[in-house]
Amino acid sequence: MKGTPMYDLKGKTAVVTGGASGIGRSICLRLAAEGADVAVFDVNADSAAETAGVAAEHGVEARAFGVDVSSPDSVDAAFAEVRNWRGGVDILVNSAGIIAISTVEETTSEDWRRVFAVNVDGVFHTCRAVVPGMRAQGSGKIINLSSWFGKQGKPNYGAYSASKAAVIGLTQSLAMELASAGVNVNAVCPGTIFETGMRDFADKLSAEKNLSTATERAKAIPVGRVGRPDDIARVVAFLASEEADYMTGQSINVTGGLIMH
Ligand SMILES: NC(=O)c1ccc[n+]([C@@H]2O[C@H](COP(=O)([O-])OP(=O)(O)OC[C@H]3O[C@@H](n4cnc5c(N)ncnc54)[C@H](O)[C@@H]3O)[C@@H](O)[C@H]2O)c1
Repeated sequence: MKGTPMYDLKGKTAVVTGGASGIGRSICLRLAAEGADVAVFDVNADSAAETAGVAAEHGVEARAFGVDVSSPDSVDAAFAEVRNWRGGVDILVNSAGIIAISTVEETTSEDWRRVFAVNVDGVFHTCRAVVPGMRAQGSGKIINLSSWFGKQGKPNYGAYSASKAAVIGLTQSLAMELASAGVNVNAVCPGTIFETGMRDFADKLSAEKNLSTATERAKAIPVGRVGRPDDIARVVAFLASEEADYMTGQSINVTGGLIMH
């Protein structure tokens, strides 16, 4: 992990969805390095446990929870356990996500719903679960993983782009609802990030369909390299800290300059 801890998150409780893999895993480890105790939510409970084990090496408390974010019952049950364990939640990071790659005319209704169920419903379920507690304590940080595809549609990514644009809309509405309650809600829009399950899956599927892969598209990144999960995690740690108290409703590109709006 690059850099020394910069933010004082000691004693804070963070919930990170999708924490078993890729960007979410890196966020768990970064927040733990900054002193936060971490609840790792993921449908893949075994890998979530692995993340929690590594996070705990930073001397914080970390626990894994098998959670399907598309299910409100699963989400509510996990937050009830977190509240029993920690009392409240200070930081929520929504990183769980899935992708589909097909033209709009080839996209099945099932695939469309599947992508929205995780990428949009999932964010709604977790936000709804933490808002009353954050409002009552008068503080909180919510950070939602959108994508540069949420600001710029691409051929073959209709369902995914639409879901990530929805995350930006939800982030802005919730930010305004909570602005006077001391709760900050922001989104992060990663660019082309390697070393994640989604990247491997998307590149394999693109190659099978004779579409360009991210490795080929990476040549267009202005800073001259692809992103790594910790590039995103460092920005999330900043947004989770007091340093970002005056930022809310933003959708921050972390793309090496791929987009600038
Ligand atoms: N990798 C990239 O280039 C990139 C770019 C832009 C945005 N993103 C976004 O970043 C986030 C993390 O993606 P990643 O690249 O690290 O992928 P990843 O596949 O490595 O991680 C996603 C995690 O979400 C979990 N997950 C999937 N469905 C779930 C469900 N129903 N309930 C709970 N957990 C579930 C998976 O088990 C996995 O651990 C996603 O929201 C993705 O859309 C990634």
